[in-house]
Amino acid sequence: MARVSLFSLTFATLLSFVGAQRAASTEWDAAYVKAEAAIANLSLSEKVILTTGVSGNPLYSTLFMPIRTIGEGYFSSSCTGNIASIGNISFPGICLQDSALGVKSTQGNSAFPAGITVAATWNRTLMYLRGVAMGEEFRGKGVNVQLGPYMNLMRLPASGRAWEGFGADPYLSGEGAYQSVLGIQSRGVQAVAKHFINNEQERSRASSSSNVDDRTEHELYLHPFLRSMQANVAAVMCSYINNSYACENNATLNGYLKGELGFRGWVMSDWYATHSTADAANHGLDVTMPGDVLPGSGISWFGETLAIAVDVGTVNQSRVDDMATRILAAWYLLGQDQDYPTPNLGSGGPDVQGDHASLIRTIDAAGTVLLKNDKGVLPLTAPRSIAVIGNGAGSNPSGPNACADRSCDDGVLGMGWGSGTANYPYLIAPIDAITNRSQTTNTTVVPSLSDSDLNAAATAGTGTDVALVFITADSGEFGYIVEWTDGDRNNLNAWHNGDDLVQKVASVNNNTIVIVNTVGPIIVDAWIDHPNVTGLIWSGLPGQEAGNGLIDVLWGDYNPSGRLPYTIAKNQSDYPAQVNFNISLTTLQIPYSEGLFIDYRHFDQANIEPRYEFGFGLSYTTFDYSGISVSGSVTSGSNYNATAVGASLDASLHESAVSVTFTLQNNGTVAGHEIPQLYVTFPSSLNEPPYVLKGFDSVFLVPGQFEQVTFNLSPYDLSYWNVETQMWEVSSAGEIGVTIGASSRDHRLFGQITLQ
Ligand code: BGC
Repeated sequence: MARVSLFSLTFATLLSFVGAQRAASTEWDAAYVKAEAAIANLSLSEKVILTTGVSGNPLYSTLFMPIRTIGEGYFSSSCTGNIASIGNISFPGICLQDSALGVKSTQGNSAFPAGITVAATWNRTLMYLRGVAMGEEFRGKGVNVQLGPYMNLMRLPASGRAWEGFGADPYLSGEGAYQSVLGIQSRGVQAVAKHFINNEQERSRASSSSNVDDRTEHELYLHPFLRSMQANVAAVMCSYINNSYACENNATLNGYLKGELGFRGWVMSDWYATHSTADAANHGLDVTMPGDVLPGSGISWFGETLAIAVDVGTVNQSRVDDMATRILAAWYLLGQDQDYPTPNLGSGGPDVQGDHASLIRTIDAAGTVLLKNDKGVLPLTAPRSIAVIGNGAGSNPSGPNACADRSCDDGVLGMGWGSGTANYPYLIAPIDAITNRSQTTNTTVVPSLSDSDLNAAATAGTGTDVALVFITADSGEFGYIVEWTDGDRNNLNAWHNGDDLVQKVASVNNNTIVIVNTVGPIIVDAWIDHPNVTGLIWSGLPGQEAGNGLIDVLWGDYNPSGRLPYTIAKNQSDYPAQVNFNISLTTLQIPYSEGLFIDYRHFDQANIEPRYEFGFGLSYTTFDYSGISVSGSVTSGSNYNATAVGASLDASLHESAVSVTFTLQNNGTVAGHEIPQLYVTFPSSLNEPPYVLKGFDSVFLVPGQFEQVTFNLSPYDLSYWNVETQMWEVSSAGEIGVTIGASSRDHRLFGQITLQ
């Protein structure tokens, strides 16, 4: 347990993070005072500069911007987006840069584990520390705004970009979003909650309508954004979704985001997702990115066009004041008016990696999910020989950054592809890490790093004590076609005929352990019950330290504590919804007809046995749960108005009302973390899913040690969204059950919540 010290941060430490954000709405107040004072010195022409990205496109700059910005300096850096400087208020401009897992398109940065892997740790401290480390790197490079975290839910198992986020459950995703925003912003960098809202598939993302009922929107998809508000997120990115366009949708931007969630920062468009001037401005968009209407068009929906809209009366001056104020308020909120570094993303810029490699390795180990371990074949003791098989164990022969935006699957898979990526400073291939680690146990390593040469795989796997078989599945952003995959995956099969590779090796080696690096679930049923497949390790998308995080689990230097952030089904058709690949001449309609029943909520409701359920993962030790007690109560029928500005952030809705306490003991022989999970069961007449995650923790215990664990539940946690009254409501329909357990199906303790 080399890196245990990181885990000594306890829940009490986390509560102090929560406390820090509670006080922070006064920080928004102070930031607004400064912003309003600055805005008072600006002309309309200057205010619209704040609302308009500068694409850096030469045509745009020469034809258009000089009109508005004579005498102003522009960034010449290569940020993903920029807002120009305004001299008379000493505003140096803003640099926005992808991605949600590290500083993109530069050098001297770290490539962090993807969101889906930190989600698999179910460890808030690690989520927070990853945010802190990323914030340090963005700040170090002079980036004002990190274009992350990503928090769209994994509604669809094949969703192209869900790996950038925190999985299939709103509560887990909400915690990932909250801790990430707190971490990033603790270093003075503005975080961006994206993509608002319902960008759950990549296909047709700019020409489809996600049709979500009001209750589902509130209880599922809005929740991670609400948690981001509670962390005082500076900015939100609206999505491409059409009908009406997400960046001019009054109901979602002014209604949900700025109304119910009380968002006080600024809304930027996704790149080229603005489609109007007056509608976008009046309906809640504050900044158009990257600035021009189309690349190189030299025309913007905002900029001069917005000033003209004010002149002709289609947009009120007060609205432009609000837009400009929000942008400056966020800048002041993060203290970016004080000694903020200037952007330096080019070659020769600072190396900002610090000691983040060790944190990355810890997250990788903690985010690795052990799914099968027959007869305790893991951890490895001192095998005489190991076969290491599959392309996914090796290095990309052209280097880890050979493919633009990681748009290939060659060698170990550390991240998906698209704008949500970063350059690797290096990438530890499993074969290298295993070879090094094997020297300490005098183990011979026999490699075969081809996916297609099944005979070589069989030869390597014959006669070794262990055969490790590496398989992958990749996906990413729409618009890059990688192995016939345009963003979303076409199916849930392992890539490169991975099933054949596993079966071939299992036919010759009775201790075959499969290691999967993947963006999401794959179907493993072709071989999982093969008697020679003794182990299955879900290694996620670990970033630069891939091989190192893996060997820590393989050799037991880290006792696995990762848990699945999504369900692995036996068949793809078991999932409640699939990517809609239809082609439509008009807007493609995507009904979210499964409503509240995504992922495990559907499997539980429809009584479908998954292969591995949400929240599942094995350990090298065992834990005992005992002595549940429930204290406190909620008032039956009480409701909470969430439609007034900021009301949903009202403390009375979010303060602890019920505490659930139990004793957790390590009754095995190895120290390790358990991830106890709390699920709520609502009265059946509410038609909620049978079990709904509302709490989890990561608890480290040495053998024999026990600890009392407490989960706190707020009225919001115990409410449903009443579409009739448009309020959060504690139902009067009956009792609320609570279970504590080790996964969404492994319920160990049961209690009832008292309704008054
Ligand atoms: C993506 C965003 C990204 C932006 C800038 C868009 O295509 O959807 O997530 O931040 O580009 O690269």
